[in-house]
Amino acid sequence: MKLTSLLFSMLAATVVSGVAFAQAPIVIKFSHVVSVDTPKGKAAERFKELAEKATKGRVKVELYPNSTLYKDKEELEALQLGAVQMLAPSLAKFGPLGVKEFEVFDLPFIFPDKDVLYRVTEGQIGKDLMKKLEPKGIVGLGFWDNGFKVMSANKSIHLPGDLKGQKLRIQSSKVLDAQMRALGANPQVLAFSEVYQALQTGVVDGTENPPSNLYTQKMHEVQKHVTLTNHGYLGYAVIVNKKFWDGLPADIRGELDTAMKSATKYANAIAQQENDKALEAIKKSGKSTVYLPSVAERNEWRKALLPVQKTMEDRIGKELIANVNKEAAALGYK
Ligand code: LMR
Repeated sequence: MKLTSLLFSMLAATVVSGVAFAQAPIVIKFSHVVSVDTPKGKAAERFKELAEKATKGRVKVELYPNSTLYKDKEELEALQLGAVQMLAPSLAKFGPLGVKEFEVFDLPFIFPDKDVLYRVTEGQIGKDLMKKLEPKGIVGLGFWDNGFKVMSANKSIHLPGDLKGQKLRIQSSKVLDAQMRALGANPQVLAFSEVYQALQTGVVDGTENPPSNLYTQKMHEVQKHVTLTNHGYLGYAVIVNKKFWDGLPADIRGELDTAMKSATKYANAIAQQENDKALEAIKKSGKSTVYLPSVAERNEWRKALLPVQKTMEDRIGKELIANVNKEAAALGYK
C-alpha cells in the first residue's frame, strides 16, 4: 500500500471509530423482580419504548425482569454500586437501605382508596420521601401503583385469627413483620423470587400480595385459599443511581424525565385493571378458592390490624402518619 493510501485508510478508520464512539448509546440497565405481564413489567416496557424513541437511540434501556439479574436485596446494592442504573423496588423494600419512612405505605388500612394514595404519592409527602433517598446516592423519579393485597394460605381465611400460627412470607419491612405478628402469625422475610418454591415445599404456609403478583408467579397453584382482605397496599418507587443521573447530558435527562412521567401515568392507569384481570384468572383456574370477607369480617380485620399504625409510630414518624391520615380526611374519611 502506498504511503498516501495508508494514511488515508488510517484517517478513515479514525473518523469511523470516532463516529462510532460518539454514537455509542447510553445504556440504562433496569432490573426488577416481577413478571413482564404485571403493572410494573408493562410500565417498564413502556418507559423503554418512550425513552429510546425520544432520545433517538442515544439511550438504550435494557430490561431485566423476573429477578433474572438480581434478587430483592442484591438489586438495591447493585444500584448503589452502579452495576444497574434503574430499579422499581416495592415501597416495602427501602427499610434495609435506612429509609424507614417508606414503610408508611405498608401500614394496614392506611389508604382507604386510591385517590388518597395519589394525593400522597403525587403531593408534598411523596416529594419529601423521594428527597430522603438522595443522601443514599439515589434519585426517585416516580411512584408506580400496583394494588391492594390479598392473603393466601392452604387453610381457609375468613377472620384474622385464622392465620394464627401460620408461617407467612413477607417483604423486608418491619411494618409487615408487625402486621403479621398482630395476627398471631410467624412472618418470614424471603426474596420475591423464592416465594413460589417456599410455598410449594411448605417452607412457608402463606403470603400476601396483590392478585397480579400472585397470578403471574403461579402462587395460586400452590395455595388453596385466597382472601380479598385488601388490608394493605403495594406500590413502587422508580429510582436511579444519582451519579449516573446527574452525569447525563441535560437534554437527555429532560427527555428521560418526560418519558418517565408518561410511563408513570400508564402504570397508574393499568394497575387496577391488571389486578382485576389476574383475580378473574385465579378464580377461573379453579386452583384456589377466592373469598370475599363480609362487612362484619372486614371490621374484624381492621380491628386486629389498625393498632399497628400506633405501634409503628416511633419507626416511621408520628407526623408522617398523621399527614397521610390528613390526606384521607381531606377526602372525607375519618
Ligand atoms: C414482593 O416482593 O412481594 C413484591 O414486592 C414484588 C414486587 O416487586 O411487586
